[in-house]
Amino acid sequence: MADELARWPGAERRDPPRTSPTWVVRHALAEWLRAQAAELETRAPVRVLDVGCGPKPYYPFFAHVSSEYIGVDVVENPAAELRGPVEALPVEDASFDVVLCTQVLEHCDDPAQAVRELRRVTAPGGRVLASTHGVQVYHPSPVDYWRWTHEGLRRVFEQNAEWSSLTVDAAAGTASALAMLLGTYVEIALRRTPFSRPPVWVLNRLGAALDARSATLREPVPGSLIPNLHVVAVV
Ligand SMILES: C[S@@+](CC[C@H](N)C(=O)[O-])C[C@H]1O[C@@H](n2cnc3c(N)ncnc32)[C@H](O)[C@@H]1O
Repeated sequence: MADELARWPGAERRDPPRTSPTWVVRHALAEWLRAQAAELETRAPVRVLDVGCGPKPYYPFFAHVSSEYIGVDVVENPAAELRGPVEALPVEDASFDVVLCTQVLEHCDDPAQAVRELRRVTAPGGRVLASTHGVQVYHPSPVDYWRWTHEGLRRVFEQNAEWSSLTVDAAAGTASALAMLLGTYVEIALRRTPFSRPPVWVLNRLGAALDARSATLREPVPGSLIPNLHVVAVV
């Protein structure tokens, strides 16, 4: 089992190299999901639905706490057990304790309906764990429609479902967002050379170091740029 989990697809998302322009998004997301899975240990076993699952990169984090881990995707996806959009999930009401929806909401047609569906399929006492972009370059999968502020994302969750608690947190701060955006274009410019990785590594290191030094850079305040947002919505 341990070998199978070590070889599970998506290692570059669970443990992204700092030489990747999207390091800050994937690194923070992996740390957050690891912590969420650890919190579930006292409530195990739980039923997990991974919406917009892609290669199910985070299954290894939840393997030890889940009795069932089902993937659903809108496109033909050999890793997914079910096919359908987040706006019309092909599962029963209240049938999962944990509903993951990572880096999907920016790609869906109707985020309000998506939130209603995420809520519908979550069991009493269960939780939705969602993440999506504050700022990011255009990246269709298969389309790319939306970006959020922390306030806008909270509003979509609050206005479309009842939650017993709801938190929307910045995954990283302004310096990291600027490093990510600059790193994206450095990587594009230097892609055909052996020189793209060191500058992206330096940018990511610098962004993280600057954010760590300043609450004003870390928090969503007027003037901030937040690369990604993490939502915990408890039913
Ligand atoms: C950026 S990938 C994220 C994959 C995975 N959740 C992760 O965090 O690595 C976006 C995924 O969402 C799926 N997707 C896009 N629009 C969707 C929709 N309306 N409903 C369900 N899945 C969707 C895509 O097919 C793709 O697998």
